[in-house]
Amino acid sequence: MIDDRTLLGGHYACELEDPQVYAARRRRVQERLSTGDVAVLLGASDTRSYGDVGTFRQEPNFFYLTGVELPGAVLVLERDAETLYLPARKPALEAWLGPKFGPGEEAAQALGFAAVLERDAHEIVVDARRRPQPAWTERVAGQLAQGGALWLALPSAAASGDLTAEQHLAVALRDRLPSFRVCDLSPVLTELRLRKEGGELSLLRRAVAATEAAMRAAARAVRPGVGEGKVEGEAFAALRGAGAEGWSFPPIVGSGRAGCVLHYDANRGTLAEGELVVVDIGARWGYYCGDLTRTFPVSGQFSERQLALYGAVLAAYEAAVATLRAGVTLGEVRKAAFAALEASELSGDGGAPLSQFFIHGIGHFLGLEAHDVGGEAPPLAPGMVVTVEPGIYLPEEGVGIRIEDDWVVTEAGAECLSASLPREAHAVEALLKGER
Ligand code: GLY
Ligand code: MN
Repeated sequence: MIDDRTLLGGHYACELEDPQVYAARRRRVQERLSTGDVAVLLGASDTRSYGDVGTFRQEPNFFYLTGVELPGAVLVLERDAETLYLPARKPALEAWLGPKFGPGEEAAQALGFAAVLERDAHEIVVDARRRPQPAWTERVAGQLAQGGALWLALPSAAASGDLTAEQHLAVALRDRLPSFRVCDLSPVLTELRLRKEGGELSLLRRAVAATEAAMRAAARAVRPGVGEGKVEGEAFAALRGAGAEGWSFPPIVGSGRAGCVLHYDANRGTLAEGELVVVDIGARWGYYCGDLTRTFPVSGQFSERQLALYGAVLAAYEAAVATLRAGVTLGEVRKAAFAALEASELSGDGGAPLSQFFIHGIGHFLGLEAHDVGGEAPPLAPGMVVTVEPGIYLPEEGVGIRIEDDWVVTEAGAECLSASLPREAHAVEALLKGER
């Protein structure tokens, strides 16, 4: 059984927050707008047609401000007004994709919006030279013509050269109104999304708990001769069984040399006696992402060399988490892990010091995306959630080792959300035997 609101809302998230939570976030954006400004957020579109399969996934900023998973939605915010625009209902398509909320009072009530209007309704066009525009773009153009600024979530400078839907909107409006200001909403949304609210933290805790259940199931499947895909499958069954929506990123089960490929996701190899296997997986719960990594000895016990290398990565992890607190940056946390590896007397391929084989950042922000907004620069603050994941990769030896946990920064320091998942070498061996 599924309740009507969930079905009509198109919800694939296993848990949503109260509509008022999203409304409060919209108000925080509205407070940043001057009178006359207008902010436009474009939801993801659903390119599926009749009979196509696939799953719709809402754009994270749009989800953060609305909790609405309906495709083709547009949010228009002004300082003192908000309107959600939804496509009209299409009964023939609903036979395939299920009933969905459409424009109107029922959706406004259920989704907590002041108004839900039809996205594609056109205003009557009095100027025959103009193509008909949807009413919402008329409204936006009207505001801009009076001198308001247009706020859009723009891509980072490093993004690919293709214009985003928001940039196409700005170009189309420029054709009509040569002079208006465009302001970037992305820094505002990043600032809000970085510090998690209580409800977000509880969803993240669930995502991490489901990821932990999946990691335990993966550990139970590890043994020589087993396919990486089997380990992945056991993990997936456990996270769905725990109630999570699915993966938060393509799962990585890399044994031997594949463990040295940072974003390996073929998961087609076979676990061999004497090798290590890197399992880097995350469950998604209410759109929030878990992300944990453990490295297991396939035969159940680390060799002497593997144990030494594992110990070095664990020391780097411990050094990193010892620095985690408000005020430091992820770059500074990485330096602590790097220094710990530099202090190791072990060497890797070609005799180089182990620190040379720590080839990625120490971690990333975690939230609605596995690699959440924020980059490496922001000083940590209470409510921010990060991964800590040092690793070393020695392809000549066929050894990749990574240890990753999820941490929330608190007033007092930081709390590990995945503290109950073993990470000491002997505890990891016990986990493989199903003893933990
Ligand atoms: N867990 C994959 C990554 O952080 O890139
Ligand atoms: Mn990660």
